[in-house]
Amino acid sequence: MLKSEWIEKGYIDEPIDRSVDVKAEIRRMCEEKHAIVLAHYYTKGEIQDIADFIGDSLALAQKAAKTDAKIIVMCGVHFMAETDKILCPDKTVLVPDLNAGCSLADSCSADDLRRFKEEHPDYQVVSYVNTTAAVKALTDVVVTSGNAKKIIDTFPEDAKLIFGPDYNLGSYINSVTGRNMLLWNGGCHVHEKFSVEEIIKLRREHPKAIVLAHPECKGSVLVMADVVGSTAVLLKYCIESVETEFIVATEAGILHEMQRNCKDKTFHPVPPEISEGNVGCSCNECEFMKMNSLSKIYNCLKYEWPSIEVSEDVRKEAIKSIDRMLALS
Ligand code: 13P
Ligand code: SF4
Repeated sequence: MLKSEWIEKGYIDEPIDRSVDVKAEIRRMCEEKHAIVLAHYYTKGEIQDIADFIGDSLALAQKAAKTDAKIIVMCGVHFMAETDKILCPDKTVLVPDLNAGCSLADSCSADDLRRFKEEHPDYQVVSYVNTTAAVKALTDVVVTSGNAKKIIDTFPEDAKLIFGPDYNLGSYINSVTGRNMLLWNGGCHVHEKFSVEEIIKLRREHPKAIVLAHPECKGSVLVMADVVGSTAVLLKYCIESVETEFIVATEAGILHEMQRNCKDKTFHPVPPEISEGNVGCSCNECEFMKMNSLSKIYNCLKYEWPSIEVSEDVRKEAIKSIDRMLALS
């Protein structure tokens, strides 16, 4: 029986008996309920360790599209779970905490995008996967940071395109494709804060280190990077490269998988710049991703709540832009 206070909070915080081995119980419930745990690289290391699959947003969507599990527990943020539900309407998609949102997805509302489309009727809309289901329903094709260039390259050179909501990713893609897409002015509050000064300092201290950056970082960070790519691209580079030292400008959760795969290599996370809003904060973590916890996973599996729902009207439209992406990836 769900308590009204949990429903209000958006997650279940029922205390778990100390004698319970939470990790083992999560795995047992997954077996019993035919469930899988998907986790993004930005979640806590202990979650990545118990997940059936970890990946970037593209790989997570591809995995959800293929799984035959009855229940998907999506440890990431809200839009990732919505994407899973759009792809798998007959499955139960659980999230450990309904409050795990995304500042980037929040920077573009469906109403604002609808108005913008009306002002630009001959444009097609390319949306980053970090968007709500309602925005995806207004989109011609979805992209992730892992496939954006490849997908934009499939459009005729003179195609008129709107790209949203991430301004930094959009201008980076414009620069590598020679396009002139109209850019939405949205951004991720974590990636926008990485400090150029700190990268210069880290480079001075570690002259052999390779600078890795996610394309959601601002242009002044991207021009300093040796490698720009999605979390999966950056991880692959570290694993395959002969280099042994890296300066990492993306959410610090990725370091867990980097270090797990590259035991003898060294990783230096880039701190954010000090500004009025984050004075003294050395944190480069996404607080939404960090809302996922082992106890919330345990409880959401036990009660099969909170689950994600997407209305059929929205789903029917949104699936077209996601399917188009998956076909082109
Ligand atoms: P990826 O597509 O690289 O997984 O990034 C998702 C994200 O939320 C980055 O902030
Ligand atoms: Fe959204 Fe930024 Fe968090 Fe990624 S890191 S989930 S873009 S708020």
